[in-house]
Amino acid sequence: MKHLLKMLDLSTDEILDILDTADQLKYELKNGIPHEHLKGKTLGMIFQKASTRTRVSFETGMYQLGGHPLFLSSKDLQIGRGEPVQDTARVLSRYLSGIMIRTFEQSEVEALAEYGSIPIINGLTDFCHPCQVLADLMTIREFKGSFDGLKMCYIGDGNNMANSLIVGGLKVGMDVSIACPNDYQPDKQVLDFTKDFDNKFFMTDKPLEACKDADIVLTDVWASMGQEGEAEKRKVAFAGYQINDEVMALTNPECLVMHCLPAHRGEEITADVFEAHAKEIFEEAENRLHAQKAVMVKLMAD
Ligand code: CP
Ligand code: NVA
Repeated sequence: MKHLLKMLDLSTDEILDILDTADQLKYELKNGIPHEHLKGKTLGMIFQKASTRTRVSFETGMYQLGGHPLFLSSKDLQIGRGEPVQDTARVLSRYLSGIMIRTFEQSEVEALAEYGSIPIINGLTDFCHPCQVLADLMTIREFKGSFDGLKMCYIGDGNNMANSLIVGGLKVGMDVSIACPNDYQPDKQVLDFTKDFDNKFFMTDKPLEACKDADIVLTDVWASMGQEGEAEKRKVAFAGYQINDEVMALTNPECLVMHCLPAHRGEEITADVFEAHAKEIFEEAENRLHAQKAVMVKLMAD
């Protein structure tokens, strides 16, 4: 593995190796065991969109690994004034040990990897959010012990989270179901990928069909970053695509509820269900730190 650009690029073994390393790093952090695998290394973190979890977990994680993180807002970089990403990649590769980037177009992240000579980590694009899904898989395994026989259900927009969850969930062997409006289905590349998983993948526009016997239900906001102008139209299109008591009544007992956050209570999830499942939702948020540290160690350690 040279980069983390999208879940589609990772093999099952690579995913499980990252999760094992993440568990180990979490154990070491909790027990005060030093793990400075990235001493002397630097990570540039380019943000073209807002962030709470990604920024703070990468920055703290890099510090805990003995390295140095640099927060690079696109507002202050020449990239924000039109310097091509191909040139930015070749320049930053001469200063840094790795780059994490959060941006709009997946092609920009792929171009950084193509033109640069250091590891590139995708911190969210419109297409996918692999760091989040690695943390989600880590959390599922932590709560359930293994992925064997589990059914994961996603309700909502066929967006970056849906794209990554479907691929990640299927790759580790779970059954995956998704309920989304017909006009908001996941990306074609992802739907093509599911064709190899005939009896493991199920897509519908009816949330109450998708959530039956689920062991994990997940959702995400109806309007993602960059779609603020469509918010009102989306509120109409997504009405009913919500994790609520009706959905939870059909899932398996002990069903986990997860959310990448930020959450909009009363839209994609009710306040009651959110609070009833705060334990796993905030463990999931914490696991961003451990999973990303594992990714950085895999990509950047000598
Ligand atoms: N879940 C997630 O990526 O959160 P941030 O947007 O706060 O980084
Ligand atoms: N789909 C959301 C995820 C945020 C972590 C967005 O892209 O804004």
